[in-house]
Amino acid sequence: MCGIVGYIGKQQAAPVLLDGLAKLEYRGYDSAGMAVSDGATIRVTKARGRLKVLNELTHGGELLPGHCGIGHTRWATHGIPSDKNAHPHLNESETIAVVHNGIIENYLKLKKNLEEKGYHFSSDTDTEVVAHLLDYYYKGDPLDAIRRVMHRVEGSYALGIMFSDRPGEMYAARKDSPLIAGQASDGNLIASDVPAVLKYTRDVYFIQNEEILCLKEDSLKFFNIDGEELAKEPVTIQWDVSAAEKAGYEHFMMKEIYEQPKAVTDTLSPRIKDGKIEIEELNMTDEEIRQISKIYIVACGSAYHTGVSAKYVFEGLARIPVEVDLASEFRYRDPIFDEHTLLIVVSQSGETADTLAALREAKKQGVRVLGIVNVVGSSIAREADDVIYTWAGPEIAVATTKAYSTQLIVEYLLAMKFAQARGTVTEDTIHEMIEDLKKLPEQIEMLLDHKEKIQRFANRYIAAKDIFFIGRGLDYAISLEGSLKLKEISYIHSEAYAAGELKHGTISLIEEGTLVAAVLTQEDLYKKMISNMVEVRTRGAFILAVTVVGNTEVEKAADYVIYIPKTNKYFTNSLAVIPLQLFGYYVAVGKGCDVDKPRNLAKSVTVE
Ligand code: G6P
Repeated sequence: MCGIVGYIGKQQAAPVLLDGLAKLEYRGYDSAGMAVSDGATIRVTKARGRLKVLNELTHGGELLPGHCGIGHTRWATHGIPSDKNAHPHLNESETIAVVHNGIIENYLKLKKNLEEKGYHFSSDTDTEVVAHLLDYYYKGDPLDAIRRVMHRVEGSYALGIMFSDRPGEMYAARKDSPLIAGQASDGNLIASDVPAVLKYTRDVYFIQNEEILCLKEDSLKFFNIDGEELAKEPVTIQWDVSAAEKAGYEHFMMKEIYEQPKAVTDTLSPRIKDGKIEIEELNMTDEEIRQISKIYIVACGSAYHTGVSAKYVFEGLARIPVEVDLASEFRYRDPIFDEHTLLIVVSQSGETADTLAALREAKKQGVRVLGIVNVVGSSIAREADDVIYTWAGPEIAVATTKAYSTQLIVEYLLAMKFAQARGTVTEDTIHEMIEDLKKLPEQIEMLLDHKEKIQRFANRYIAAKDIFFIGRGLDYAISLEGSLKLKEISYIHSEAYAAGELKHGTISLIEEGTLVAAVLTQEDLYKKMISNMVEVRTRGAFILAVTVVGNTEVEKAADYVIYIPKTNKYFTNSLAVIPLQLFGYYVAVGKGCDVDKPRNLAKSVTVE
């Protein structure tokens, strides 16, 4: 997703922008650009491709001198990735520069209006209408022009704006796209996300919807859409800068895979006190929990996969009916709610547009919304009635690993808490489960210790055309995630199938030597799984089995077996996913793929 950085201060702006944009690369982008004011003129350089191109074109920023600038990494929505569609965009007299994240939904109408007034457009973007509209309204008062533009545009935006006749000022505004401001000792910054400013400051302001910001070298002023000044307090960010860097690993993804034991511990341990589950952020009484008639879990991508898994846990433990929905489907399907429905939205970024829209839709209908979110202060975190944070820390690799693992933990804890309140499990069971939860970090570490074995196996499959993942029950949920991890970073076609459904489809795709990863961690489904493995093996498949230690019988039906340690049946996902993450990672590395930034994908998808 697009990244914005702006700087005004004592330093040369361009190097600060390049540095900040590099910290936002994880958001995914296809082009980059900067506009810098030298006090009289605004100069722009922008180009399709990686930041390296922009760096070279500007000689590391030297060719764009000046102390005030805005930078952008673009992930194409309107118009193909190209130099002309890259941001910043300018008005025709090149006195106003704009960078934008989000989508101006009524841009075609606005564009037509502006063209009728004599404006000429030089890109296919929705953003360019903002530059021309600002030009139309600007009569020497930036705040007034920005407010008027905000009243005209529909959709979402985080904007960074400069006017050449206001050299000591920079402006920003937002609606439904993330934007923060940072106050540093030698100047002020704006950015789409915190890592971009951490090198300069820890004092960060979260800009809210329909707020406008005026930055000068030594001041930050906030206004509402009516132009009234607002008082805001900064939040001090506790992360270490190094937490957002690779720490010696070849890729962020591997670093984050290795951070899972810590991330799981950080998410789990503050919520287990004296052998009991205590979720401080959960503002629900036991009576309210008992009244829940139905849970919807709504999310996208891997977060959705944790929901598929959690359905089994909530239903099995707390005996509450659960429906799991893709957010992009949920928001358009007219679901049935009653006053005791609970909606759980799960999101790493807290900014995923579809998940946010589902949350808003449910809230509009009076449904209580509980968010499981990683990014503190993100839109979903702010708008949910209750928010439980996953303490995974910043996740940079596009393919999620540690955020996924921590989402599972919060879901287990919630299901156990609900089960306790509803009296559907005994205290002894909860006690045993807590003991099993506490062992997970160490068990994940044990699995990571065997990474070379998985690497050797993965190397055999770098030329594979298709790979299938099968499982039943919770193992189907794990298969979904294992398959996604592999395909999103290695570009190998892969599908996850409920093993019992094989003979209704996937089995026709099995050829001699096709790899089928069979996940069988559930005791009650074990025998059925063996039958499904035999079905594909007799048709030529090569079987990789992931099962629980002790299930040696599997070796008769599989060609290669990975054992995970014993744990509660509801928690096997947390362990089985580790070898599958490693498998996807090593296949992608073996193929020479851009593991952390797979083509066409974005970390945070803030458009529908
Ligand atoms: C993108 C990411 C996925 C992620 C999904 C949902 O597609 O590439 O890794 O699972 O969005 O994102 P969220 O931030 O809501 O968890």
